[in-house]
Amino acid sequence: MNISVIGTGYVGTVSAACFAELGHKVICVDIDRSKIDQINAGIPPIYEEGLSELLKKHAGKNLSATSDYDFALMNSEVSLISVGTPSDPDGNIDLGIVRAASTSLGAALKNKNGYHVFVVKSTVVPETTEKVVLPIIEKNSGKHQGDFGIAMNPEFLREGKAVYDFMHPDKIVVGSMDKRSGDIVASLYRGLECEITRTNPRTAEMIKYANNAFLATKISFSNEIGNICKELGIDTYEVMKAVGKDFRIGPNFLNAGAGFGGSCFPKDVKALIGKAKEIGYEPILLKSVIMVNEGQPGRMVWLLKSRIGTLKGKKITVLGLAFKNDTDDIRESRAIPVIKELLDNGAIVSAYDPMANENMRKIFKRVEYHSSAEDALRGSDACLVMTEWDEFKSLESEFDVMKNKLLIDGRHMLTPKRDIEYIGLCW
Ligand code: UDX
Repeated sequence: MNISVIGTGYVGTVSAACFAELGHKVICVDIDRSKIDQINAGIPPIYEEGLSELLKKHAGKNLSATSDYDFALMNSEVSLISVGTPSDPDGNIDLGIVRAASTSLGAALKNKNGYHVFVVKSTVVPETTEKVVLPIIEKNSGKHQGDFGIAMNPEFLREGKAVYDFMHPDKIVVGSMDKRSGDIVASLYRGLECEITRTNPRTAEMIKYANNAFLATKISFSNEIGNICKELGIDTYEVMKAVGKDFRIGPNFLNAGAGFGGSCFPKDVKALIGKAKEIGYEPILLKSVIMVNEGQPGRMVWLLKSRIGTLKGKKITVLGLAFKNDTDDIRESRAIPVIKELLDNGAIVSAYDPMANENMRKIFKRVEYHSSAEDALRGSDACLVMTEWDEFKSLESEFDVMKNKLLIDGRHMLTPKRDIEYIGLCW
């Protein structure tokens, strides 16, 4: 099949490369010239494990990139919309980029005679495909649904593992308003061993939000249990490991600690809260998931203050800046509120992250960024661990350069070492 993918972020670029690997001919569309040039040169515009190999294999053959919507639409039968859906200042979804892409696609469809299917892959609140995307395409093309197809196909890709997750899905969800467009979208995934769930667009949209909100709820639940356990001298990891043996619960996403960050969980839970309120429902549980999460970073600083008192003039090391391991992405990283509070309290902050130093420097210029944990720890009064980087597990002698050997671990990465005071956030 000939596919066009609108938007070359981690979902769009990974989807394009993986569809090319499945044998399709793929055209990526973006407004960012540098991303277009990188993809055409077989260079990934974002870091994703396995993506570079796929782009090198397919770029210039059955994968290309352009800024030309007309060209892309004329040379494909299916267009996937995978543009960003950021939060507005109130946490509600901002559909501005989705609207812009839909407008350009509608305008391009005006000049096309053949049948074309539009697929929303971006994470959008329920009703968006039917009540926002479809009317815009109809208005700008002068055509009606039926003359073209419309569907919704959410992604369930973890950042850093997106290629693996695309090629090994545990579910593929296709929401469509008619059988023809749904069949065409389902056929894109031929070659993947996975059951396809067929439904309507708003159900597909909700499946994505419920999926992420439940994962976020598991994390906040573990954190609430963890905060209680901490006061009782109980190790939450011991508790949740046993709880996770219940086949109805499962062992994953029960890791208590500094909380969830990233470009999805915080944004998606807040967008679902906003949608619920819009239709007159008060989502108490979802709001609590956010409240618990937003409280975790402050608990790291509270533990620190309870041990060393005033932070003014103290040197505090932050190990881990990315929102999780194996990525340079700092969006909603739990390290951000921690660093802000440390600086607000007059602390001198030194930091180390294997990949994310330069991204964090764009936010906090006053922080000292180092290229190793040892350099960041030199002379410090305490160390906070904020990201679950594997390399932190083997740190031992590096702590000897600290002025005061106090470790506060927000990710259960370290084990108490000789002659070092170790405090776990929830254990
Ligand atoms: C998530 C979903 O997993 C993915 O399916 C969806 O498509 C996009 O959002 P991602 O945000 O890339 O993926 O990372 P994930 O591995 O899910 O971790 C998200 C955050 O939760 C990280 O900050 C991580 O540190 C935190 N986390 C994860 C916990 O605090 N505890 C856990 O047990 C698991």
